[in-house]
Amino acid sequence: MQASLKFVAGLVGAGAILALASGVVLHREAQQRDRVAAEQMTGGNVERGQLALTRYGCTACHDISGVPAARGSVGPALTGIAEHSLLAGKLPNTPDNLVRWIREPQAISPGTGMPDTGVTERDARDIAAYLYTLRRGSPDK
Ligand code: HEC
Repeated sequence: MQASLKFVAGLVGAGAILALASGVVLHREAQQRDRVAAEQMTGGNVERGQLALTRYGCTACHDISGVPAARGSVGPALTGIAEHSLLAGKLPNTPDNLVRWIREPQAISPGTGMPDTGVTERDARDIAAYLYTLRRGSPDK
């Protein structure tokens, strides 16, 4: 290969690596923004919420991105919930309504397939924070 061709090939390679690296950085920044926004909206903590989903057994009924044990199919998959306009087909999707739904689904929708599981206000805020980081296309597990 001619020296000048090698130089061009090197430039193209370096450009591809840079593009990939900046893609990764931008993706991380977007994730970080989603996370801060979710915590501000709910007053909860994303990591604690992720753990609470398993502790309260939500995983038995829901498929939830980022929660390995969450493969349940009794209820709807919760990945992408951040982008839904209604919760359980009836409540406007606001942070306070999500917290309410998590704490007392039976009071909101008597007879619904989702049981009250005794979630505390604080834990419900953490769970809501985690759920609001989930967009359509969030990685599965
Ligand atoms: C026994 C099964 C079961 C368990 C346990 C359960 N859910 Fe549900 N969940 C459901 C069902 C069924 C629905 C659909 C309810 C409806 O539309 O009336 C639902 C709906 C929801 C919704 C609304 C989803 C949407 O697409 O609108 C959210 C959010 C939710 N559950 C979160 C949780 C969380 C958080 C926990 C744990 C604290 C939990 N669920 C535990 C069965 C369950």
